[in-house]
Amino acid sequence: MTDTLQYQSGFGNEFASEALPGALPQGQNSPQQVPYGLYAEQFSATAFTAPRHLNRRSWLYRIRPGAMHQPFTLLPESRWRNRFDEQPATPNPLRWDPFPLAATATDFIDGLFTVGGNGGPAAQTGVGIHVYACNRPMHSRYVYAADAELLIVPQLGRLRVATELGVLEIAPLEIALIPRGLRFAVTPLDGDARGYVAENFGAPMRLPELGPIGANALANARDFLAPVAAYEDREGEFELIARFQGRLWRAAIDHSPLDVVAWHGNAVPVKYDLARFNTIGSISYDHPDPSIFTVLTAPSDTPGTANMDFAIFPPRWLVAEHTFRPPWFHRNVASEFMGLIQGEYDAKGAGAGGFSPGGASLHNCMSGHGPDAAAHARAVALDTTRPQHLTGAMAFMFETRAVIHPTAQALALPGLQADYWRCWQGLARHFDPTRR
Ligand SMILES: [Fe+2]
Repeated sequence: MTDTLQYQSGFGNEFASEALPGALPQGQNSPQQVPYGLYAEQFSATAFTAPRHLNRRSWLYRIRPGAMHQPFTLLPESRWRNRFDEQPATPNPLRWDPFPLAATATDFIDGLFTVGGNGGPAAQTGVGIHVYACNRPMHSRYVYAADAELLIVPQLGRLRVATELGVLEIAPLEIALIPRGLRFAVTPLDGDARGYVAENFGAPMRLPELGPIGANALANARDFLAPVAAYEDREGEFELIARFQGRLWRAAIDHSPLDVVAWHGNAVPVKYDLARFNTIGSISYDHPDPSIFTVLTAPSDTPGTANMDFAIFPPRWLVAEHTFRPPWFHRNVASEFMGLIQGEYDAKGAGAGGFSPGGASLHNCMSGHGPDAAAHARAVALDTTRPQHLTGAMAFMFETRAVIHPTAQALALPGLQADYWRCWQGLARHFDPTRR
């Protein structure tokens, strides 16, 4: 089933939407009397004084202000956590089998499981890396993350994400980006759902600079889709869950917090179809650094050094001549968490014990990695006078400047592959000092 919802197109631009005619005030943000008896509320996703081109805020016109709920109480620690210092980070490459589907009735919040991360919400730097597995709607629950912007990457099953600003539907091969603090509820539409979530504690994600590439390419701004206003006028017994400094808090609320009838601004949730990515690569020899595959980047305070990049490895042509075409062997100052949405990644075998859809790998700072022995053998024997089409696969990377600490619970998963390191041990010695 395809997504038949209405959307507005663009990334970071000023959107405007109203679910009732005339609900959106014109000419000012905070009129004395708001149409339809609504309340005006500003939603600031960056500092008031952030430079204009980075400033993100929206004005919401809602049935009740966001302040109307009972006090929050702290919930017990869940598997969705932001503590990354439970054990030493490891220089060992790690890989997990596909993460388990939900074994019991589980909603999106309870289905979140933290695999690793760095930094934290207090320092407003770093990233939490999570997977989710859920199979039922949130029913009476709504959630917001004060800690971070959320990047949701479905791998199995569609999700309906109802937010204060309207509804998004995302399927595998699409992503959603939810601004820090925006309230929302998730409904899996196909039974079992599984995917990945990055919690970006740093500056909001943006499109990467294009430099000499020019004005177009990679992820084009017009392919991002923001929702149109859609409100829930519901009263009853609901819960508002706050993700706050790595813990979950719960407040009773007697109405749906998704009661925004009209809004305008640029702090908005968006979705993006990864198939729209304009993939750039070499048409001569070698291949560029994988930064060429960056969809979105969250900058750090150091120019050119991201708090987090979201990069993808989509279907593409490989045409580089006299070139080792797979992702080369390398060691990286940044740390790389990879997931696979579908297909077979060109540098690694799939199947039992391999890199499989719904699984993940972690290559930390300066840990050597690259193609496994079988992929290497294929690549050096390949006729590089012919183009090669990589089809069917969609891998992605959350790349972070800081080391990624796996959580104790992720290291305890039965799906952690104890022998992942062996995939490189079959790389034979070919060195012969008498032969050039
Ligand atoms: Fe790498």
